[in-house]
Amino acid sequence: MKEQLEKIYADASKDIENAVTSGDIDEIKNKYLSRKGELNSIKKNLKDLSVEDKKNVGSLANEIAQKLEAAVAQKFETIYRKELDEKLQKEKIDITMPGKFIPQGKVHPLTQTTNEIVDIFHSLGFSLVGNQNSPEVETEYYNFDMLNIPKDHPARDVQDTFYCNLASNVVLRSQTSGAQIHVMEEQKPPIRIIAPGRVYRNEDVNARKNNFFHQIEGLLVDKNITMGDLKGVLNEFIRLYFGESRQTRFRSSFFPFTEPSVEIDVQCIMCGGKGCRVCSGTGWLEILGAGMVDVNVLKGVGIDPEVYSGFAFGMGVERLAMLKYAVDDIRQFFNNDARFLNQF
Ligand code: PHE
Repeated sequence: MKEQLEKIYADASKDIENAVTSGDIDEIKNKYLSRKGELNSIKKNLKDLSVEDKKNVGSLANEIAQKLEAAVAQKFETIYRKELDEKLQKEKIDITMPGKFIPQGKVHPLTQTTNEIVDIFHSLGFSLVGNQNSPEVETEYYNFDMLNIPKDHPARDVQDTFYCNLASNVVLRSQTSGAQIHVMEEQKPPIRIIAPGRVYRNEDVNARKNNFFHQIEGLLVDKNITMGDLKGVLNEFIRLYFGESRQTRFRSSFFPFTEPSVEIDVQCIMCGGKGCRVCSGTGWLEILGAGMVDVNVLKGVGIDPEVYSGFAFGMGVERLAMLKYAVDDIRQFFNNDARFLNQF
């Protein structure tokens, strides 16, 4: 039995020496050291020996088992390190490799401009109206009647306004001013709101005009509001929006829903005020219409004009973007040419 043990020790030692993979180590453990392994099968036969031999062979078997366990553990350590190194080498990532280009979408320049304008008016204390008070598909009642626009006003003509065949009095709104009425019907003064949105006009398209475009409506109604407030707020807006001084002019004008009415022009930056096709030779581009809310409009929504007064304005988002970024054709905003859009 002693010789058998010596042989097991010699065989196992050789196997350990020759082991290359962690799989080989598992096999060795199984063959020699497991419950059903060679060492254990010898131990099972110890019971047939004399007491003395049992002691000697038993302790030799234990000694060999311990030595083999230690040798296996040591060899495993070496193999494990080697295998790990190989694995790390194989799975190495070169973090200096250039990445894959993933084109990213951008916020449309008109949306950027709208957001910027809305932020400015937020800072001046105006809040945004909900969509339900500023619908694109409107009734004549909100788009014209309540804004003091007479039945025979030329703006109502089909040449100017898109009528829907849903019902005879339904239009694609030609201005955001209907939002004023929706808000005043719902809310008592003080009122300080803005309403951005798309509007539609049946017009010939050119560098300055498109048959749909975007406006931002504003309305402020409170006690003791004067033309001075209107000028103050709009001048402050222009200063904040352009971030630099721009030549502007207030021109007296007419809107049925404001009295008195003004329009504000900003000097054309495409030609520096000399006159070009964008400003049709005038050197100026109109950016907004405004005025003191007409007494008839206030009465229509049940606000007492003896107590309250207010001003309203409607600005063109495309015009404001053109003047800030020197875009010389309004149609560029709608062509979806990535070379144009990526500049913003
Ligand atoms: N709604 C007018 C337009 O589209 C602009 C405007 C708004 C004028 C509010 C006065 C007050 O031209």
